[in-house]
Amino acid sequence: MSSFSNRTILITGAASGMGRSHAELFGARGGHVIVHDINPDGVAATVKAIRESGGSATDMVADIRDLQSFRTALADAVKSGGDVDILVNNAGVTGGRKSIEQVDEAYWDDFMAVHVRGAFFATQAVLPAMKARKYGRIVNISSQWGIAGSAFASQYAGAKAALIGYTKAWAKELATFGITVNSVAPGYILTPMTMGSRTRPEDYAERLRPIPLGRGGEPIDISYAVAWLASDEAAFVTGHVLNSSGGEVI
Ligand SMILES: NC(=O)c1ccc[n+]([C@@H]2O[C@H](COP(=O)([O-])OP(=O)(O)OC[C@H]3O[C@@H](n4cnc5c(N)ncnc54)[C@H](O)[C@@H]3O)[C@@H](O)[C@H]2O)c1
Repeated sequence: MSSFSNRTILITGAASGMGRSHAELFGARGGHVIVHDINPDGVAATVKAIRESGGSATDMVADIRDLQSFRTALADAVKSGGDVDILVNNAGVTGGRKSIEQVDEAYWDDFMAVHVRGAFFATQAVLPAMKARKYGRIVNISSQWGIAGSAFASQYAGAKAALIGYTKAWAKELATFGITVNSVAPGYILTPMTMGSRTRPEDYAERLRPIPLGRGGEPIDISYAVAWLASDEAAFVTGHVLNSSGGEVI
């Protein structure tokens, strides 16, 4: 099990769900975590949980769609937290089910601003310090639907496929700077994003049917994959997409 002591980890969208789970795992393994999200109460709760377990964390509240506010909040956070060694591009919103015709321009722009533009410019913001120190780990949170496609969620599948494209391109562009770039593509994970949409037990059972391992993933299942890709144990792995879907997409 890798230690992250002497590492600063920025996790976007860490007020809830998987982002909070990643933040708590990195904190428990000795890292200093910059907990970013648009939701201040959720950020405070994640920071509190890390500190109560003996870890170290800084809060960073910003809407990732507002790049100026994101950059200002990051500059403040690194003053106390130190330059970012590890970036996890995790912030996201659920797209719901929409046909191609149901997606209008405003919705498309807003959705892409969180998932794709947000991840691109968060990465751009941390690169100067990573390049200067010739060390960095970037983990982009994609989705099994970014690999396999999903009918009536093309905006989501397209955004997550874009993150896989970035992962491979950035891996090639940044390798000479000692920076690795990888992606985790989660399957169906039980978080606030997914649990709101299935309240009847029969709908939930139906959703689990195509998953060979027979269950939905827990956030910690994904956190272990993220932590491994961000660790020194994965120093020779870059441009990889780690599919963690219980076998639903192979
Ligand atoms: N839950 C799943 O089954 C699943 C599967 C595959 C991929 N994912 C992806 O994993 C990531 C985490 O999802 P989750 O299931 O933990 O969801 P979640 O809703 O619990 O967490 C997403 C976080 O992103 C934050 N966020 C949203 N818009 C933001 C903005 N404009 N600025 C800053 N923060 C913002 C939210 O406030 C929230 O805390 C997302 O990228 C999601 O697309 C989820």
